[in-house]
Amino acid sequence: MIEVRLDPVHHLDLAEQGVPSIDDDVALNGCGRHRWDDETQILTLVQPGLGEALGDPIVVRMIPTGRLRYKGDHAGLFGDHELSGDAEDQVLLASMPRLLESGLPSTACSLETSWPSPGKPETMRALVCAGDGSANVVMTDVDEPTPLPDQVVVDVAAASVNRGELRLLQVRDAGWRPGQDVAGVVVVPAADGSGSPVGERVVAWVDQAGWAERAVADTDRVAVLHDDTGFAEAATLPVAGMTALRALRRGGSLLGRRVLITGAAGGVGRFAIELAARSGAHVTAVASGSDRAHGLAEVGAAEVVGKIDDAAGGFDLILESAGGESLEQAFRAVDHSGTIVVFGNSSGEPASFSFRDFSQRPIRVEVFFVYESGRPFGPDLQVLADLVGEGSLHPQVGLEVGWDEVGSALRALAERRVNGKAVLHIG
Ligand SMILES: NC(=O)c1ccc[n+]([C@@H]2O[C@H](COP(=O)([O-])OP(=O)(O)OC[C@H]3O[C@@H](n4cnc5c(N)ncnc54)[C@H](OP(=O)(O)O)[C@@H]3O)[C@@H](O)[C@H]2O)c1
Repeated sequence: MIEVRLDPVHHLDLAEQGVPSIDDDVALNGCGRHRWDDETQILTLVQPGLGEALGDPIVVRMIPTGRLRYKGDHAGLFGDHELSGDAEDQVLLASMPRLLESGLPSTACSLETSWPSPGKPETMRALVCAGDGSANVVMTDVDEPTPLPDQVVVDVAAASVNRGELRLLQVRDAGWRPGQDVAGVVVVPAADGSGSPVGERVVAWVDQAGWAERAVADTDRVAVLHDDTGFAEAATLPVAGMTALRALRRGGSLLGRRVLITGAAGGVGRFAIELAARSGAHVTAVASGSDRAHGLAEVGAAEVVGKIDDAAGGFDLILESAGGESLEQAFRAVDHSGTIVVFGNSSGEPASFSFRDFSQRPIRVEVFFVYESGRPFGPDLQVLADLVGEGSLHPQVGLEVGWDEVGSALRALAERRVNGKAVLHIG
């Protein structure tokens, strides 16, 4: 009998082949028979010919590197690969003294030094930054993601486009991987046991690299979707939904409060309107025209204005993201002891104000960055996913394209033609 001890990463790869769920010995493509033990993390291979030749048991430990990867067909596990003496093979040599002591000839004790199994591609397609100073991206092959123990791998069905990505694509180097909002199905569970099992439909907030066939996500940044929630609407939630939810919380209880939201037609704005309204606020939305204002009343805007100055002032809370003149107007419109939460500068314009603007008005101005707003993000993301699942929050997918048409989505966002969110269908 030969025992091969595998680290959790290998365990996960085996999981994709259905190995861990198998209790009884089964054939392993020409390698004899095997049994996976979840508790000990030991894969036992029963190789009758080899066992007879060497006497058993022989224990092969493949623990230390986590980099030993099995490539080629299954037969290669004990196949033709020669121990070449390179770094990975040295680890193998060092870790299976008993095998070597037994005098097994090198051809017989060879092990493939790379995983995963056949069927799992080693590369996948992803959109990467062109690095030409524009917001261009190119589709290319990249390595499959390697999850940390507290990460799941998500097979991405839909991803959304954020204004932040639009900006970063213009300043990041070639090869940078955009994509923060992903929705899809978990294909590799977290090795530490946290988070979703294989097959669960989820939405996840990843820092980057989400515009890809698969993405890794920290398990505390994942939420489970209701059965009837579509991947496209789910993909709108992480950055935009979380920003709206947590920026609104900076204003305290909203029951009976007057709330003004700029950039109301955009991704964050629309979520903010609906969340504020359902929290009992009287909501004024700022949108640049009737096309942009479309549907905002339906999600809770009591009034829609073209600019803040057109609204009757005295707001308890203003969510401001347009910047420039809009921010200046916000200072005039906020109530005596109200709060302005500044979370964006879509116009790129500076605002000008002076100490006198605050005369006799103890207003509070707070700068908000959702990434700094406190982990874990998962529970709040779950709040949003549940609201969508219950029909209480209505993501607006204003533009849906295949990810090979990402350029058109980026252009539309830059030109303020997307009401709500732009979503890419992946694959
Ligand atoms: N601090 C954070 O953590 C955080 C998180 C997410 C987003 N953000 C920022 O928050 C802002 C809103 O994000 P989003 O995802 O909702 O963006 P979005 O979907 O592009 O919406 C931006 C909105 O701003 C309005 N706007 C007003 N003046 C604009 C101008 N000069 N250029 C472009 N848009 C203008 C647009 O509406 P009209 O065309 O009707 O005026 C548009 O609906 C962005 O600046 C984004 O970078 C910050």
